Amino acid sequence: MKVLILETTADAEARAAGIIAETVKAKPSAVLGLATGGTMLPLYAALRRMHTDEGLSFAQVTTFNLDEYVGLAPSHPASYHHYMRDVLFDHIDIDLANTHLPRGDAADPIAEADAYEALIASAGGIDLQLLGIGRNGHIGFNEPTSSLSSRTRIKTLTESTHAANRPYFAEGEALPKYALTMGIGSILAARHCVLLATGAAKADVVAAMIEGPLAAVCPASALQLHPCATIVLDRAAASTLN
Ligand code: F6R
Repeated sequence: MKVLILETTADAEARAAGIIAETVKAKPSAVLGLATGGTMLPLYAALRRMHTDEGLSFAQVTTFNLDEYVGLAPSHPASYHHYMRDVLFDHIDIDLANTHLPRGDAADPIAEADAYEALIASAGGIDLQLLGIGRNGHIGFNEPTSSLSSRTRIKTLTESTHAANRPYFAEGEALPKYALTMGIGSILAARHCVLLATGAAKADVVAAMIEGPLAAVCPASALQLHPCATIVLDRAAASTLN
């Protein structure tokens, strides 16, 4: 595990975006695994800027997102399909046909999960998997106690995840109970994992991921096993590391 501690949040976001840009420049047909959430918004803004100002091209890139809420159609404003179009795909030269997220509104979500794994395999696997981390240690929507070898499947969302994601839903709207998420085994199969965590609220879980025991109660600790994992932190997120 390589841990990069940057002075400011903007520095950490820029470094993580820079790692993605370098990957795409080195391999224009790269397969990227993408994440959503608040942490990623400035990173995607940086990629949009690199596309517009520096000509960074995603024309040959293929993407696979980590997760989607079960029951939400792509047009739902809180869906990750919607998020990705809004913050990245509609602003760069990527071919939408090469962007993939699990369909939350699939009639058979179990079959959808299996088909998603098969699609990733048929694309040759993921070159770079971008990750955020939940305050409970989740990566993707692999909530605590997820099996460390799990593959794409349905997971029940925890109360802590509901609380963190409530602001993305309309007032009074019920949050989805389940998500389709790539598993921890799917994530560990990526050739390079890059996790970005910023802010003091993530400091304790970052320390558990990096310095704590390898344990299903902190799914992100599975990255300790990965031969090429880069953790990008700002000073606040790194503040409780030994
Ligand atoms: C979503 C995902 C999640 C988030 C995590 C952190 O695709 O992968 O694991 O990365 O919940 O979310 P924020 O950045 O909103 O704190």
